[in-house]
Amino acid sequence: MLDPVLNRINNHLDDAIERWSDFLRIPSISTDPAYADSMRQATEWLRGQLEPLGFQVDVRETEGHPVVIAHHPGPGGDATHVLYYGHYDVQPPDPLELWHNDPFDPTLVDGPHGKRMVARGAVDDKGQLMMWMEALRAWHAEHGGLPIRATILIEGEEEVGSRNLLPVLERYRDELAADVCVVSDTAMWDIDTPAVTYTLRGLLYTELTCRGPSHDLHSGFYGGAVTNPINALTRILGALHDEQGRVRIPGFYDDVIEPSQEELAQWQTLNMDEAGFLGSAGVSVSGGGEQDRTLLERLWSRPSCDINGILGGFTGPGAKTVIPREASAKISFRLVPDQDPDQLIAAFRDFIEEQAPAGCTTELEVHSAAPAIRIPTTSPYLQAALNAMGTVYEREPVLLGCGGSIPIAAWARDILGIDTLLMGFSLEDDGMHSPNEKFEVTCFHRGTLSHVALLDELRKRTDY
Ligand code: BES
Ligand code: MN
Ligand code: MN
Repeated sequence: MLDPVLNRINNHLDDAIERWSDFLRIPSISTDPAYADSMRQATEWLRGQLEPLGFQVDVRETEGHPVVIAHHPGPGGDATHVLYYGHYDVQPPDPLELWHNDPFDPTLVDGPHGKRMVARGAVDDKGQLMMWMEALRAWHAEHGGLPIRATILIEGEEEVGSRNLLPVLERYRDELAADVCVVSDTAMWDIDTPAVTYTLRGLLYTELTCRGPSHDLHSGFYGGAVTNPINALTRILGALHDEQGRVRIPGFYDDVIEPSQEELAQWQTLNMDEAGFLGSAGVSVSGGGEQDRTLLERLWSRPSCDINGILGGFTGPGAKTVIPREASAKISFRLVPDQDPDQLIAAFRDFIEEQAPAGCTTELEVHSAAPAIRIPTTSPYLQAALNAMGTVYEREPVLLGCGGSIPIAAWARDILGIDTLLMGFSLEDDGMHSPNEKFEVTCFHRGTLSHVALLDELRKRTDY
């Protein structure tokens, strides 16, 4: 059953690239309200792709952007039931001047590994979600049906913290029930080494505002007498880390689980090219985070805290002697098992209270909160994925951690009670969220073949 589908993928790659390009032309930027129509257009485009494959497709409203939910009955009986997840939203493309082509005019460019697709969303997540969609399409075309029962959930708010996904999962819990959730939104180890990701960090994203005087003041008239909200804010921000790069919020590390000796040993065998990794960021030393931890630990098993933006006062050209009335900062935390986002919010509020100088008030807004996840490596589905990728790449896949976050994984466990299979095909230099985001066509191609091979693995085994 497998070979004809693999052949079909190989013989019709150009058509798949055509469809991928169509999807990329829709500027589905979730954070910018000006693109609301494009968000809807993307959901309708997805409907148009899925209905011909025998899916019953619904575009459901949320408090934010709509979600696509689709069902395929599969062969019946006790076939494996897969929940495929993806996100149709993308990050804003700015700074635009750094792109070599229009971010929403997908362009195939020659690179050292052959052609690559350059566009916003090329890899994150339109290109990656299309791999499993193309696998389903090819199987359907070849065999007139699917070997598994499939439910699809594609959201439009992952890039803004999946703000309305939790209510969607709670509301449609029964409808979204499945045996396993399959996601392609992570990375491989290198272009020839496929990987399953088994840990994701969580994310708590907040905004802190400090307010002082009722209006902007002359800093000569009032300087030294009135609390300056920027001084207050930076005092709090400066207190977040100690000299060793540890986060100073009391209790921050209390629930952090240390990786086992076996895990640390396995990470060692990956032989990370640390200089290459730092070089990909344009730096040569790793000065961030806990100095007594290895780079992979810092990225995969240790929590972190970053200030993502800071706002306030006079930022125009030249000088202006002013004490502003307020200042704010976006502060986010990457979380690891078993840190509880709600507990951290409370501890952070206490910390702010304690650090804030007299004469200013503080307000903390929580934009999004999602816990970390660790997928048991003993999961039979994980084994099926390793087998599938091993067949396609003729090389042993590796298990990876990931410093990024995908909220569905923890919530699929907590609300739907299922594990998530993270089969990602992105490379370190794909530039997710950066200008000239790209996805190698060979990764797209072999990723699609891997999803076909996974279908075949799941078809052969009904005893999961
Ligand atoms: N696809 C990424 C997750 C990711 C990041 C995978 C890095 C592999 C490496 C995802 O779309 C993403 O950007 N997630 C956000 C989540 C957040 C807004 C809740 C992230 O990690 O910042
Ligand atoms: Mn993504
Ligand atoms: Mn992303």
